[in-house]
Amino acid sequence: MVIWLIGLSGSGKTTLSEALYQRLKPGHANLVLLDGDAFREVFRDVDHTIEGRRRNAEHISNLCKVLDDQGIHVIAAVLSLFPEWQAWNRTNFSSYFEVFLDLPLKTLKERDTKDLYAAAEAGRIPDVIGIDIPFPRPAAPDLVIDKPAQDDGVEACLETILAQMPPLV
Ligand SMILES: Nc1ncnc2c1ncn2[C@@H]1O[C@H](COP(=O)(O)OP(=O)(O)OP(=O)(O)O)[C@@H](O)[C@H]1O
Ligand SMILES: [Mg+2]
Repeated sequence: MVIWLIGLSGSGKTTLSEALYQRLKPGHANLVLLDGDAFREVFRDVDHTIEGRRRNAEHISNLCKVLDDQGIHVIAAVLSLFPEWQAWNRTNFSSYFEVFLDLPLKTLKERDTKDLYAAAEAGRIPDVIGIDIPFPRPAAPDLVIDKPAQDDGVEACLETILAQMPPLV
């Protein structure tokens, strides 16, 4: 199974995927966590342009499939921009559970944990999704975690994901 956490920068992908991994790993040795930032350490040929991001999306989905085909469960935390790759995931993985972290841009700008949004708005960096690259909302997420849900805390979000996702075997 592939559990796919998607959302803009600052939406909580890393935070929630790590919490989920910590919870599930003790009972499931065949579980790996792949964070978007870690992918970029591995696939060095991608930049942050749309074309670089498209190549990255393709690499990530293909790697998840190789693992999934060998019975390895994957938690993938990625700012996935391409509806066609989300559709590909659903068709090609043995089981796919997509969680959309749906936070308003206002909250993300307030968090701005990587100083991305302020830098983009000041014209200091290009290719920031949500500012100068549009983010297509995922068409068919299995679960949406929005601002009110996140206001209840990471632990509550984690319990929601665990309650709704298919059981890991
Ligand atoms: N309920 C919540 N769930 C997840 N994150 C939360 C929640 N409430 C607040 N946050 C905060 O949101 C901030 C951004 O989270 P995180 O770094 O996980 O985002 P991200 O989606 O991985 O961003 P990026 O794409 O830039 O890596 C963190 O400071 C985190 O503590
Ligand atoms: Mg992150």
